[in-house]
Amino acid sequence: MAKKATVYKNFINGQWVACKSGKTFVNVNPADTRDIIGHFQDSGPEDVNAAVKAAKEAYKKWRLVPAPKRGELVMELGLWLKKNKERIARDATREMGKILKETRGDVQEGIDCSLYWAGEGRRQFGETTPSELPNKWAMSVRQPIGVCGLITPWNFPMAIPTWKMMPALVCGNTVVIKPASLTPLSVWNLVKGAEEVGFPSGVINYVTGGGRGVGTPLCDHPDVSLISFTGSTEVGRQINLACAKDFKRVGLEMGGKNAVIVMDDADLDLALEGVLWGAFGTTGQRCTATSRCLVHRKVYDKFLAMLAKRAKALKVGPGLDESTEMGPAVDEGQLNTDLEYVQIAKKEGAKLVCGGKRLTGPKHKNGFFVEPTIFADVTPKMRLFKEEVFGPVLAVVPFRTFEEAVAMQNDCLYGLSGAIYTRDVNNAFTAMRDIHTGLCYINAPTIGAENHLPFGGVKQTGNGHREGGKEALDLFSEWKAIYVDFSGHLQKAQIDTDKIVKVK
Ligand code: UN1
Repeated sequence: MAKKATVYKNFINGQWVACKSGKTFVNVNPADTRDIIGHFQDSGPEDVNAAVKAAKEAYKKWRLVPAPKRGELVMELGLWLKKNKERIARDATREMGKILKETRGDVQEGIDCSLYWAGEGRRQFGETTPSELPNKWAMSVRQPIGVCGLITPWNFPMAIPTWKMMPALVCGNTVVIKPASLTPLSVWNLVKGAEEVGFPSGVINYVTGGGRGVGTPLCDHPDVSLISFTGSTEVGRQINLACAKDFKRVGLEMGGKNAVIVMDDADLDLALEGVLWGAFGTTGQRCTATSRCLVHRKVYDKFLAMLAKRAKALKVGPGLDESTEMGPAVDEGQLNTDLEYVQIAKKEGAKLVCGGKRLTGPKHKNGFFVEPTIFADVTPKMRLFKEEVFGPVLAVVPFRTFEEAVAMQNDCLYGLSGAIYTRDVNNAFTAMRDIHTGLCYINAPTIGAENHLPFGGVKQTGNGHREGGKEALDLFSEWKAIYVDFSGHLQKAQIDTDKIVKVK
């Protein structure tokens, strides 16, 4: 800990460089703020300009590298992540706090994503279709878009950057990535790997700094063709507005207020494990976190007691300690938000069942630890029912009928993930149809998305795009329709067609 902290640089055009202003910001361990992880460049518009210029120049050649070759490099990067998984997971836990088991999963998600997209280098299928004219060929192909600006969050500091970077690269784009200022080291690791496996200079550029210094100039830059962002709905809205003026393509993944329905016929032990994992995994700091638990009145008291007993027993501490079950909040701001919602919920008349306080014991006093918190008797009018906390604060809500539960599920500004625990196949299928979210789980919690399926949400969670799965191709490439006329004379579409066969 006494060791002098490293100064990490930006990566622009294949070089590690300091930002123009010479300013840096500090990255600390949220489990123990005395532990300084490093100093990172506090970049500004000049640095963004340099990175975009490099990416634009590199794009000229990168787009012409055959896609299977681009995929091969992406695969090498995935294998590099696999080789360095443990070290990278430890770095991630140290900089953002979640437990090692989860940061290992986070890096694994990055590996899975890389290997998936490596394969896509040999697909990216277009279509051929008959032309309406003879001796004419018609087909559609995917084309890259250009320079992509990737703005990534801190809660999945490896998985989400790869979700954006790998499809962007395989499609033939070049990238400028701005990681969250709370997790620049994880993305530094990814970029270091890209350098080691031999990505050409300028294809991947890394610029650290704040939203105003880096994010805004990236969104406003005329040579950036696409912005892909994961974070709060508030920032997403600003990005969307900023990009609208130049009709820039934008992919947005934002808030959630995900609910699990626990029916009276559910396997309650199974539901218990799922709700605990969904609500308190990653200290509740997932956009897919279970933040509302809707429970059938017939099993309400019983399930609430089961839930409280286990939540109280969760071991909260530093994520680097293998026996810890829940790590700290990511920073002081998030910790204060968590505590603020405790006050709000109390004031609105919800019943505090467990938790609600900051932890200040010997293991906790230097970090941002909060107790796993459960409120019961929450109603749809309360702010805790509606607003995303992004912390370990679970709202438990009673209901009487399946229909009422589904209506409550959908009574939400957001629509990322929804889940139901039931043994009734009719309820399960009805929920699959009627829960208005982008992700839906039966007898599983609201978290646990896999890489090869589309990830994203409806309503104010997103803007219709998806990450993960082949659907991400539609964000990172655009279609070109190509016609080849090999008749040797001018053929007029829609006009000369009558000359061929006259249809009455
Ligand atoms: C997020 O919540 O920000 O399904 C991403 C999951 C993870 C990804 C979550 N695979 O919870």
